[in-house]
Amino acid sequence: MNSIFLDTLKGKPHSRPPVWFMRQAGRVLPSYLKLKEEHSFWHMMRDPQLAADVTLLPINDLGVDAAILFSDILVIPYAMGMGLDFTEKGPVFSKPLKDVANPSANLNPDANKLDYIYNAIDAIVEKRPDNIPLIGFCGGPLTVLCYMIQGLSTNHAFPDAINFIYSNKKESKKIIDALTELSIEYLNKQVDHKIDAFQLFETHAGLIPTDLYNELFMPSVKKMAAAARARKIPFIFFPKGLSTGLKYLTPEDCDFVSIDWQIEISEARKIVHSEIGLQGNVDPRLLYASQDVIENTLQKYIDFGSENKDWIFNLGHGFMPGIPYENAQFLTNWVKNTNWNR
Ligand code: CP3
Repeated sequence: MNSIFLDTLKGKPHSRPPVWFMRQAGRVLPSYLKLKEEHSFWHMMRDPQLAADVTLLPINDLGVDAAILFSDILVIPYAMGMGLDFTEKGPVFSKPLKDVANPSANLNPDANKLDYIYNAIDAIVEKRPDNIPLIGFCGGPLTVLCYMIQGLSTNHAFPDAINFIYSNKKESKKIIDALTELSIEYLNKQVDHKIDAFQLFETHAGLIPTDLYNELFMPSVKKMAAAARARKIPFIFFPKGLSTGLKYLTPEDCDFVSIDWQIEISEARKIVHSEIGLQGNVDPRLLYASQDVIENTLQKYIDFGSENKDWIFNLGHGFMPGIPYENAQFLTNWVKNTNWNR
């Protein structure tokens, strides 16, 4: 495939960085909001043709260089038997693990519950333009565990989940092992159905100290990275809030690491292992500003991008509700039309 995104992941330089956005297939696109008037998120995600169409919307509407599967990280606990609903206030589990005695014994992983996702991947591969690779994904072990224990995300500190992790380390490990096993099966099936790259979304990595993250959760990340590597699929790790813990990542852990906005991209380059490429890290909230302000703020990326060819342009987290569509288009066009002095 002739893809600037895959070339960059594999170390082949281009005259500009590739660009895609976390949460690109959703709320920022008028075409998506229109579909949302007729269908629920759950319905769109479970209908393979609709999921494929939504996955490809930002290719046409924004002009990004890669597609990301339209699904959610919480399909894994759902496939473990946890009742899940997507409500106005975000995802809600009917029986969070904080309310269950002996939770690991009550999980029933059933990979067949994810079959509709592979059908969606087949439909995407069939419909996509030739040069557009598909990114598969799943949630990082800490982030998914937080949702499973807490049951919802109205408090982003996930207090009961963190309490549980500290007070039930052994039980936490058992759940993490079960999550890891199903996630690896899920990754392998996504590869069987021809995804081109894989991203692990560890959105809540910053909730706990790095040493605890490294002890309890990094073994799981390493196993997933090894599974991707065995299939020759580039592996991007997004540990939001990991901060200076980024310095512990090794090339075995990921090919690229996605950086949030709390650390400057040039600073991240200094502390991340030189063989690991970077992705990121524009603050998505910058897109609430005027295009003049956006353009001025982006200037610092030109020097960085001119020196660093192992870099994928992206946000530090996903698009936010209410970001003007025109500004998302402006950002994509800016990346494509800037002279990167390469
Ligand atoms: O990036 C993409 O466009 C691909 C699809 C995707 C979704 N969720 C679709 C979605 C991806 C990669 C995710 C990952 C995800 N889901 C994460 C990790 C990344 C991140 O944003 O932090 C997390 C923590 C979740 C859990 C989740 N799902 C939350 C908290 C919510 C509700 C709040 C929100 O962000 O909208 C969801 C629902 C969800 N997942 C929607 C979409 C498009 C919104 C559904 C709607 O339109 O109502």
